[in-house]
Amino acid sequence: MTILSSGPTTSLVPAAPVAPVEPAGETVSFTVDGIETEVPKGTLVIRAAEQLGIQIPRFCDHPLLAPAGACRQCLVEVWAPGRDGKLAKMPKPQASCTLEATPGMQVKTQHTSPEADKAQHGVMELLLINHPLDCPVCDKGGECPLQNQAMSNGRASTRFVDVKRTFPKPIAISTQILLDRERCILCQRCTRFSEEIAGDVFIDLQKRGANQQIGTFDTSVLGFVGDAPLGASAEDTSGRPFASYFSGNTVQICPVGALTSAAYRFRSRPFDLVSTPGVAEHDAQGSAIRIDHRRGVVLRRLAGEDPTVNQEWITDKDRFAFTWQSAPDRITTPLVRNAAGELEPASWVEALDVAAAGLQAAQQPDDPRDTAVGVAVLPGGRLTLEDAYAYGKFARVALGTNDVDGRARPHSAEEEAFLGHHVAGRTLDVTFADLDRAPAVLLVGLEAEEEAGIAFLRLRDAVVHRKVRVLSVAALASRGLERLSGTLLPAAPGTEAEVLDGIGTDPSLAATAELLGSAGALVLVGERLAGVPGGFSAAVRLAQRTGARLAWVPRRVGERSAVEAGLLPSLLPGGRPVADSAARVDLAAAWGIDHVPSETGRSTSEILAAAHAGLLGGLVVGGLELADLPDPALAREALDRVPFLVSLEVRQSEVTDRADVVLPVAPPTEKSGTFVTWEGRPRPFPQALSSHAMADHRVLDRLADALGVELGLQTLEAVHAELDQLGGWDGARVGAPDVPASEPPVVAPGSAVLATWHLLLDGGRLQSGEQFLAGTAKRPVARISAGTAAAVGVQDGAGLSVSTDAGTLTLPAVVTEMPDHVVWLPTNAAGAGVRDALHVDAGAVVRLAPGPRTVEARS
Ligand code: SF4
Ligand code: FES
Repeated sequence: MTILSSGPTTSLVPAAPVAPVEPAGETVSFTVDGIETEVPKGTLVIRAAEQLGIQIPRFCDHPLLAPAGACRQCLVEVWAPGRDGKLAKMPKPQASCTLEATPGMQVKTQHTSPEADKAQHGVMELLLINHPLDCPVCDKGGECPLQNQAMSNGRASTRFVDVKRTFPKPIAISTQILLDRERCILCQRCTRFSEEIAGDVFIDLQKRGANQQIGTFDTSVLGFVGDAPLGASAEDTSGRPFASYFSGNTVQICPVGALTSAAYRFRSRPFDLVSTPGVAEHDAQGSAIRIDHRRGVVLRRLAGEDPTVNQEWITDKDRFAFTWQSAPDRITTPLVRNAAGELEPASWVEALDVAAAGLQAAQQPDDPRDTAVGVAVLPGGRLTLEDAYAYGKFARVALGTNDVDGRARPHSAEEEAFLGHHVAGRTLDVTFADLDRAPAVLLVGLEAEEEAGIAFLRLRDAVVHRKVRVLSVAALASRGLERLSGTLLPAAPGTEAEVLDGIGTDPSLAATAELLGSAGALVLVGERLAGVPGGFSAAVRLAQRTGARLAWVPRRVGERSAVEAGLLPSLLPGGRPVADSAARVDLAAAWGIDHVPSETGRSTSEILAAAHAGLLGGLVVGGLELADLPDPALAREALDRVPFLVSLEVRQSEVTDRADVVLPVAPPTEKSGTFVTWEGRPRPFPQALSSHAMADHRVLDRLADALGVELGLQTLEAVHAELDQLGGWDGARVGAPDVPASEPPVVAPGSAVLATWHLLLDGGRLQSGEQFLAGTAKRPVARISAGTAAAVGVQDGAGLSVSTDAGTLTLPAVVTEMPDHVVWLPTNAAGAGVRDALHVDAGAVVRLAPGPRTVEARS
């Protein structure tokens, strides 16, 4: 299955380049079924046959996994020249998935060799001896390689008359993945994926002979203690559930119905489903997915195939977290707050008129002494490029303001300068393919497995196969970093800039400087670096000093779109600086308006602070989770105080609860659009479900119309035509940030500096309603060093209370190798959100105290 981009592209973000053709290396000539072919040396016979259009049946073979020769279904007859140069037949049929083509070899498949055909029939008959005949109720029925190949390469009837082997079924190897062992044909695709690709050795083959079966990794059976594969400590994995963020991929590549997902089991038959290609909305990786739906309901999502991005893998969040788009709290009609203060359904015309009147009044209050004046826009960080562009144009043209900021997370002016200087308009500077080729990759403010799942898998592949060195500037070495065989450059929160400045100047970091000085080395910075004063400036200095290339890898899907579309107070579309009059003139001409506002706007925090202080008349808010903001409590109060609030939302939220007008918008499945990856790669996707819901750009176009302004963004085609006409900006860019590293905070006894990052699976709203997926989330814990634990008087596993003046979080303490006087907490674990409970973020000083034991101490 190849999912090709079927949607539009824009010139703001140029189309991805075609991969360069590898120079031809040594080749070999041989024949398959009498057809002469020439292939690169090392090509497997099964691949060469595929290229000739000859299909050899197979189960264990997978192009992205190492050859295993486990199932024996791909047997072929082989003749090869001996030492005397004469062709000789190999004594037995050979597995074509493990056999490399050699010069002069002659391969005969089942099409030309009765012997190969008989061997394949024999293997198939053996596989079917114990395989149950439950195809009518098996999830895989209708798309099952075993079912298909039993028809094409098996006997018409069975000779087996005995009782088949059975197992109790199914067993849940995690809350999400179920195993029916009697269906398993022991191909080991699942275990090889887990070991080779994800590095999550939670399942393995157990026992021998007829009793051999897949099960959760059990050291007592396998005797792997002290000899676990790369990145997996036997102590870490033994006897535990299949706790992998990538476990759903095993369901997809299992060639039978032995592995199924609890969410999809018995829900549908494959031939009842309609498939539409899509792009995952959960992160900035742009993973290709396939959306399978039936009668207007999405029933499952599968990984799409795209060698340039996600190859064939996706995270479990991308696979299983989709029901948020059709949740019961979905908003289906416009809502207007009535005189009694309650939201009530309204027609589109009525809602748009009320919204327009409210926004106009907010811009020009009746009372000239009113300080609550002006309207700002907070579009949120999950937008398509088209919707992001519409929010930016709406703010500048319809509202006449640069008070627009797509950053719904901690942010800084330094970060804004970095984005304008180094990110906007620089598309495909660093790509996924560069991760494969880099000699060394330094991660700063980025926990790849949690925040950039596909980049993590690509890095792991590079580590395993090409010995890429991964280094991370962080407070602790996570399990993800261990699976990358990574090196930790320990940094207490707030000291990251100091560590970066030390590379190349501090003799103890000379080896790191040398690695980053090698051609092709990369520095990947995450959005969390915005919380470290001097962090982005130090990263730019490091890149200039060492020659390493620098890339920004944000977490949310809409972050890069927001930068390219100019959803920043100082940045216009295409990287045009607001402060540059030539850029403003260029944009005003393209938009057909007199002028673009010249005053730099206010950031998200400044907008909310103004609303809180009664200095803002109105707000237009897109998909925004208040818990993501630096201070959710202040944001709630700000939204309570702003005189007029318009919300464009998919579902009921804390914002819609406070809005004066709510305008429903379409989720990704119900619209077409383009997500943009962290690389700047456009990922267009078509609409999967028919729907009356409108994309944000259409709603904004109608709202502008109600304000008497023609935005011209009613259709996707109109947006693309405008983006194409606008193009990029080749004038002066925003200047590079130059903020010195700040002094680390002073920590009093009993206190610690807070380190925190988002886990992939947490309390985020886009995962709500997925109880099977939620069961595989890591349990929230507080990590501290042995020294800090001793100083506070907390034992490993006992409760640790972390507090500020705003509140307290109590979690089990896990003693971890990390700097003293630092405590790590997950940012938004379900029921334990740091920003909500403590009103602080990474780098803040918090108080520690022993607390009651509340949760089992294991993440
Ligand atoms: Fe193969 Fe599926 Fe069995 Fe794993 S569970 S060994 S993928 S048949
Ligand atoms: Fe060749 Fe399984 S596909 S042995």
